[in-house]
Formats: sequence, structure tokens, C-alpha cells
Amino acid sequence: MRTPLCDTFGIDVPIFAFSHCRDVVAAVTNAGGMGVLGALAFSTEQLEIELNWIDEHVDGKPYGVDIVMPMKYEGKEEGLGKAEADTGKVDATAFEKLIPQEVSDWIETVLDEYDVPPLPPEERIATGEGGGGNAGLLGWTDGGARGQLDVALKHPVKLLVNALGPPPKDIIDLAHSMDIQVAALTGAVEHALRQKEQGVDIVIAQGTEAGGHTGEIGSMVLIPDIVDAVAPNPVLGAGGIASGRQAAAAMALGAQGVWTGSVWLTVEEAESTGLVREKLLAAGSKDAVRSRSLSGKPARLLRTGWTEAWLREDCPGTLPMPLQYMACAEANRRIGLAARNPASRARELIGMPVGQVVSRMNEVKKSSEVIYEFMDEFISAVARLDGMLEAAEERD
Ligand SMILES: Cc1cc2nc3c(=O)[nH]c(=O)nc-3n(C[C@H](O)[C@H](O)[C@H](O)COP(=O)(O)O)c2cc1C
Repeated sequence: MRTPLCDTFGIDVPIFAFSHCRDVVAAVTNAGGMGVLGALAFSTEQLEIELNWIDEHVDGKPYGVDIVMPMKYEGKEEGLGKAEADTGKVDATAFEKLIPQEVSDWIETVLDEYDVPPLPPEERIATGEGGGGNAGLLGWTDGGARGQLDVALKHPVKLLVNALGPPPKDIIDLAHSMDIQVAALTGAVEHALRQKEQGVDIVIAQGTEAGGHTGEIGSMVLIPDIVDAVAPNPVLGAGGIASGRQAAAAMALGAQGVWTGSVWLTVEEAESTGLVREKLLAAGSKDAVRSRSLSGKPARLLRTGWTEAWLREDCPGTLPMPLQYMACAEANRRIGLAARNPASRARELIGMPVGQVVSRMNEVKKSSEVIYEFMDEFISAVARLDGMLEAAEERD
């Protein structure tokens, strides 16, 4: 399974694992792949703790950090979302004012229908909390993500990844000056070309099958198109890859490795436990639906009462990023708390991003076992194809 990317990073297998969970990141890196920590939900303080922990557990082996710095978000042109000079935080109040009352009222109606009680006062999210890691604004503004980046670059990170477009040029240049490779996710050829132009080293061609934010084109079509468009830059295939056969297919299409997300949600080391894990283990591909209900941009999520509600006729519609997540932040917290009660209807609303490969996630395994199974199945798939060539030669 070796490709030039293995030499670039000093890894044994070109399996890149995106996870918000530090234990998964370390486990994949230690098994010979490359773990990449999703920083989105962490405050700068918490990110520092997570990265220190990873440093202590990977013995100098390479790992990466993923930030979410969208090319476009509501209020960006008006200058919202910048970090304040004195605190380094983003003031979320200006964003909160952009959330229409009609949407907040409708969310309340849905919560009522599912008997989700209000939050106890100590659980409320403070108004104006923002920037790099809180339930309201997360890291998906310039200021929020830059704060996370400052923290990440103090650690021996070997790969910096951005979702939702190429990172700004100054960030790419800074990473390069520190000998850090830069990758970015894309679901369309024209965006991949823009990334290459901006200086991104590795393009992640992510098909619509993927969990999380995702485009409309399937991996089978997208990967070779992007490989051809950005050559000689290396491409990682993503979206719908949870096994060695799927990895072999992506690499047959020209990818130099695979970028995976969903498959790590149900490993032993993952944080998702209890109800969410049960739902993931039971779900099939049709249960992974594309919805704007999480962030305002299309993202593939587990189908739940919540995703279905946003499709109803009485729904006023989703809001642009970052307002949608902010509008739902308190509701999500209420649903999470209420769902701890086994009798609560809030359990019908609980879900998370996941891709169509959820169909293959049927049992809990160790991360290292997943990596070894990838390798085994990859070898068998390549041997099977080789066998076809040999059979053809014998016939000739
Ligand atoms: C729960 C979850 C959260 C995700 N969050 C992010 C994120 O914050 N940043 C990012 O670049 N990609 C994110 N993704 C997308 C993954 O990086 C990856 O591209 C995708 O999972 C690959 O497709 P797969 O789910 O079929 O493996 C997320 C995916 C999942 C499943």
C-alpha cells in the first residue's frame, strides 16, 4: 500500500483518519497511518490540552490538525467573525442578532412536540460566547479558526487540513515555512483547481457519500477527475471508504491514499457511546442523508426526527453558516440532556454526521484492527485484479 505520500510523512500506510477524538488520532498514527484531529469544536485552551495529550502518546510519530475556515460565511464581508485584539476571541453577539425570531420560535415548537424540557440555568450558553470552540459559534469563522491554528502550530503537526475551501494564502505560506504540508477538502474539480493555485499541497477529493459537509458528486466520478485536474499534486480519495476494497478502488482511480472519517466513529477508542453508537451500528446507507440542518451548508447526517423536521412544510428554512448552528446550539444541548432519560422522545432527535459507509459499521473494533483489516483486504483486492491479468495472459 506504499505511495510517495508514505515517504512524505514517514508513515507505513497512506490511510488518513479524521477524528474529533484524540484517542483515535493517536491510535491510527501508532498503527502506521496518519491521525488528524478535527479542531472545530475545541476552544483554544481545550485544543492545547488535546494536542499535548497526543504529543505524549504518539512518540514522535506524525499526526495532523484539521480546521474549518470557510471561504464564505454570513457576515464575513461586513467584517464579522474576526478575533478581538485583546482577547483573541470572536464576539458572537453580532451573529446572534442575525438569527430571525421566526426560526427560533419554530425550533421551540419542534422541541415542544418532542417534550424536550428547557435547560436548567447552569447549562445555558452565555450570550456572546464565540470564537474557536463553544457550542454557539464553533471555530468556523476566520477569527475562531486562526486562534486554533496558533495553538496547533506550537505542536509538531505534520499536516494542516482545511475543510470548506483552501485556507488563506498567508496560512499556507506560514505552514510551508514550518515544513508542514497543507491539504484541503473539495467536492468539485473547479474548487480543486483553486486549491492548487492557492498553494495547497494535497487535495482531498471527497465524494458525496461522505459524512459531514459534502458535495453532490460521487467518489467514483470525482476522484479521477480531480487526480487528472491537479496532477502532479497528490490526491487523497475520500467519501465512502471504510475498507481495503474501497481503498483499492480509490487508489485505482489515481489517489495516493485515502482520507476517512465515518469508520472511526464506532471504534473502541471513539467518544460516541451509548445511544449514538447504537444508532450508528444499526443504520444503513439510506439513513445517511444530506441535510442543511446542522450548519446551513449541505452535510451528510444520520437521519433523525431533527433532520426530518427541517424538511417539513411549516419549517421556515435553514439559515446560512454560521447562523444555523448557532440557532440550534441551545436546542442541541437540551436534546442531549433530555435524551439521557431512556423514556424521553428527545432520543428520536439525537444524531450526528455520518456517511453512507455507515452500512459497514456494524461492530465495535479497535482502531488498529481497522487499519490491519484495511491492509489485508487491500492486498486481496489487488491480488484478485492481478489474477485477472494473469488469466488474460494465459488465454493469449
Ligand atoms: C462526524 C464527522 C464530523 C466531520 N467533521 C469534519 C470537520 O470538522 N472538518 C473536516 O474537514 N471534515 C469533517 N468531516 C469529514 C471528514 O473529514 C471526511 O472527509 C469524511 O468523513 C470522509 O468520508 P467518510 O465519512 O465516508 O469516511 C466530518 C465527518 C464526520 C463523519
